[in-house]
Amino acid sequence: MTYLVLENCIKCKHTDCVEVCPVDCFKEGPNFLVIDPDECIDCGVCVPECPVDAIVPDTDKNVDVVFWTELNTRLAKKWPTITKRKAALPDADKWKDTPNKLDLLEE
Ligand code: SF4
Ligand code: F3S
Repeated sequence: MTYLVLENCIKCKHTDCVEVCPVDCFKEGPNFLVIDPDECIDCGVCVPECPVDAIVPDTDKNVDVVFWTELNTRLAKKWPTITKRKAALPDADKWKDTPNKLDLLEE
């Protein structure tokens, strides 16, 4: 099992989540974060930290778990670890809850 970062994070990237992860398994891209499924210990403490509810367990039946697990796994291999909170992206509030942001993901 792992936790996954979903589409809501794209173009927001609040980074509150990274401060609480006990095993530093968040990886940072230009406008999105992912969790490394190989490092996540399934503690769940990051979930309530995200202001846009972008983090879910891979047991969540409302999401395409196969797709999001593959995306988190693939990007975790190429992006660097982030452990310190930083300012959210400038238009984070504007993009909050905007649907269909996947095409805007920068790798
Ligand atoms: Fe880190 Fe726990 Fe969140 Fe996994 S569930 S990413 S170990 S804080
Ligand atoms: Fe993204 Fe939420 Fe973390 S917006 S960076 S998953 S706090």
